[in-house]
Amino acid sequence: MAEEVLKPYLVTDPQEMSERLDALRAQGKKIGLVPTMGALHLGHLSLALAAKNECDVVVVSDFVNPTQFAPNEDFDKYPRALDADLSLLAKIETDFVFAPPASKMYPSGFDASVHVGGVSKILEGAFRPTHFDGVCLVVLKLFNITRADIAYFGQKDYQQVAVVKKMVADLNVPTKIAMRPIIRERDGLAMSSRNSYMTDDERKQALVLSRALDAAEELIKAGERESSVVYDKMREIIATAPDAKIDYIRIADPDSLLEMDRIAGNVVILEAVRIGATRLIDNKLIERKS
Ligand code: PAJ
Repeated sequence: MAEEVLKPYLVTDPQEMSERLDALRAQGKKIGLVPTMGALHLGHLSLALAAKNECDVVVVSDFVNPTQFAPNEDFDKYPRALDADLSLLAKIETDFVFAPPASKMYPSGFDASVHVGGVSKILEGAFRPTHFDGVCLVVLKLFNITRADIAYFGQKDYQQVAVVKKMVADLNVPTKIAMRPIIRERDGLAMSSRNSYMTDDERKQALVLSRALDAAEELIKAGERESSVVYDKMREIIATAPDAKIDYIRIADPDSLLEMDRIAGNVVILEAVRIGATRLIDNKLIERKS
């Protein structure tokens, strides 16, 4: 059945989504889930294509999840583009788009929460204390609704992947978590639905994020082992953008995300920088032998 569907089948009701996927699972189909908040770009599509390569049925969820936004954040202004998203996903022959209204995900009387400690409390978690609880809540619901075999996440939100992996491990969730690389614009800016918030001038300034990561990689590959030297170089580059304000830059262990003062083995460099009113995150994994 799913193979014959050219346009994604739009489902808005969680129970209907579960039932349709149950029927396919009963036929032995492997189900891939790509959780998104819509306003899709090539970063999202790369995940849907990865799912298509490895699974029989692909579900892209398209839901701007209110519980992961704090009251002062951009929930209202976050872009919504379901029609455009459906056209894009039709081109790559996605099977299902699951786009429930908030009232179906969080009906009146809804009263559950999911909290993962440890890795969810640092970095993004320190700046957005309720964010990962909201992410875990909706992701666990999506896993339960779809019972996907594999769920695909982007390295763009590196810490999100770490938190989701910890949730899945701690709560014995059977869905496998797959991480796929960051897709960038030609000039290096990591694709993000939030890039549309920026003016042309801010958009140019935003290049300091990827340039700082590239410079850090160059220093480390040339043998630099002192994180402080790398931080200084990154700060110098970011400071060339007049409207940039650093929330954090962190050279960290790729698993624990704990800070490394001296660079040894593989590291991930994570950064969050505000360009004017737009908060951007980016990261780079640097794999080394010693
Ligand atoms: P959203 O920001 O829409 O991102 C959906 C998925 O696309 C995430 O796994 C994210 O890491 C990935 N992604 C975004 N930009 C990318 C890029 N440039 N390259 C590769 N992958 C990219 O992340 C969320 O939504 C939400 O928190 C969600 C998990 C859906 C829960 O609501």
